[in-house]
Amino acid sequence: MIILAIETSCDETGVAISRNGREILANKLHSQADLHALYGGVVPEIASRNHMLILAKLVESALHEAGLQKSDLDAVAVTYAPGLIGALLVGVNFAKSMAYALGVPLIPVHHIHGHIAANYIAYPALEPPFLCLVVSGGHSQLVDVRGYTDMRVIGATRDDAAGECFDKVARVLGLGYPGGKALDDLAQSGSDSAYDLPRASVDSAPLDMSFSGLKTAVLNKIHNAEQKGEVLDRPGLAASFAAAVSDTLVPRAMLAASLLGHTKLCVAGGVAANTRIRADLDAAARRAGCTLYLPPQSLCGDNAAMIACQAFYEKRPSPLDNLAQNAYATMPL
Ligand code: KG4
Ligand code: ZN
Repeated sequence: MIILAIETSCDETGVAISRNGREILANKLHSQADLHALYGGVVPEIASRNHMLILAKLVESALHEAGLQKSDLDAVAVTYAPGLIGALLVGVNFAKSMAYALGVPLIPVHHIHGHIAANYIAYPALEPPFLCLVVSGGHSQLVDVRGYTDMRVIGATRDDAAGECFDKVARVLGLGYPGGKALDDLAQSGSDSAYDLPRASVDSAPLDMSFSGLKTAVLNKIHNAEQKGEVLDRPGLAASFAAAVSDTLVPRAMLAASLLGHTKLCVAGGVAANTRIRADLDAAARRAGCTLYLPPQSLCGDNAAMIACQAFYEKRPSPLDNLAQNAYATMPL
């Protein structure tokens, strides 16, 4: 089954083609990050307009990369939620029009299901059940993946997502947008004990997380240093921050795996590219005797290959079934 997938939930336009789910025949990604960097964050209307401008061209180039014609497609998949509503609507409407014109089914895919499916591309033998730590710009969740479309959130952040904190700290340090990768790079030359930063826990909810106190603590360190005219140890702060985020995520992921009896631990989302978090997960999984699945960095951030993969495991609609499909800014798993 050949599926063409479209991903437009934020500021990356993605078009990919999969064969029977895990074989990726084409994977095209167009980042708008430069356009949004001018404003220090994603401007929703600019994102929507630029998805609209580039989509048809990306579809053509994905087909070309795969050596396929439109008539070879068996279905069109699209991210329908969650994300920026205007951006999602562009993708959903484009995908719907394509499916209608070709007379093939439209398969709506939840963005986070897609992130989790990045693991299936990276590890062809991986099958549910497993535990997945989802860490992206908008989500920090522990997900009990019981089946390809049967998932439960068993722990989550009570306030900010981990990626949001990385971006905010990076922005205040003048590292631009999105700053997670730049902050990660800066941390490589710093000491993780340079600054004493808090690790919050949530009373009687051991699998839940909180990052807002950590974010405020880091911002206070930066502002205090500025006010007192002290030199900030920027690499040290970046390394101490990454360690604090990792210390929040990794033990909870391990606890969740052990509580649910999972021996397979997967990681998904843009923040899963973080060097410190990857190293800590690797060490913790070894200690616990769990198998760790870490997709390559290219599959951690937003992309359409993960949507094309997940779509294969979703319910197979008939060609005209989903032509009233809507997009949603928020949607539980
Ligand atoms: O999954 P994703 O591409 O988009 C969402 O669905 O949100 O995640 C984007 C997030 C951003 O916050 C970005 O700064 C962060 O992932 N990120 C990183 C790294 N690379 C991307 N955070 C920490 N370290 C990284 N290496
Ligand atoms: Zn994402």
